Amino acid sequence: MKAVILAGGTGSRLFPTTYVINKHLLPIYNKPMIYYPLSLVMLTKIREVVFVVNPEDIPLYKKLFGEGENLGMKIMYAVQEKPLGLAHALLTAEKFINDGEVKHSVCLVLGDNIFFGHGIAEILYQAKDDVEKNGGAYVFGYFVNDPERYGVVEFDSGGRVISIEEKPKNPKSNFAVVGLYFYDNTVFEKAKKIKPSWRGELEITSVNEEYLKERKLKVKLLGRGFAWFDAGTHDSFLEAGEFVATIEKKTGLMIGCIEEIAYRNGWISKQKLEEIAKKLSKTDYGEYLIKILKE
Ligand code: G1P
Repeated sequence: MKAVILAGGTGSRLFPTTYVINKHLLPIYNKPMIYYPLSLVMLTKIREVVFVVNPEDIPLYKKLFGEGENLGMKIMYAVQEKPLGLAHALLTAEKFINDGEVKHSVCLVLGDNIFFGHGIAEILYQAKDDVEKNGGAYVFGYFVNDPERYGVVEFDSGGRVISIEEKPKNPKSNFAVVGLYFYDNTVFEKAKKIKPSWRGELEITSVNEEYLKERKLKVKLLGRGFAWFDAGTHDSFLEAGEFVATIEKKTGLMIGCIEEIAYRNGWISKQKLEEIAKKLSKTDYGEYLIKILKE
């Protein structure tokens, strides 16, 4: 399985902050927002990632991640020329997902989604394993107060999914579909088949509906012990930052520290981590990495 992280778009809900800076590069407390979705992919033990970015942002992302050499990963970049929806963005990454005849499954993550909760790595790993073995799609639902802002999933009394709708005026449940999806390789076929929505976008929800029609959509609910932020507005941005700061200060453990995960995954050496930590030595982030080196 390879991962696709969506980091394009106009960030119009964060104007004027995002007039000239891509939303996903702005800080959530002490690190760029994009570190958080990348850290989830790494916790799922996926080592090859395609970032889908706006053309003008390619040099910035390359400066930040290169080709993944500091993380022991392979990082690639696909360009989305126009913000025509999440499924459209996913299609721009198709050529990096397939290695000739070998067609990989995909973990798709939205670059502005931040997750925190006990056992998240195991849950994601299990979803990955399920899709690799059985095919289909695996998505996650989360109980929210404002479901009309999201994709919403409806269940019957037996807990089976009966519908999935994008930003419904009258939501059929309070379960939002979060921005983290596991798909088999037919996702590309499906994304090519769907039609643009009323907002002119190829919606990821329409792709999920295709899986639902084939009875191949699994939805796992993330319980109350999880925190999920879609940091797409000024308020949610601030909330996510405060949340990360609170947890990190209380526990002394970092959320979304990609170098720590790379090291613990055995993807980078002690020397490499030391080299990175030295560069960051004036910050708490650097001190944290040095602490890990001494373990
Ligand atoms: C997108 C998806 C939506 C999903 C949400 C999660 O919404 O279309 O189904 O629930 O991300 O963050 P958008 O960010 O495009 O409004």
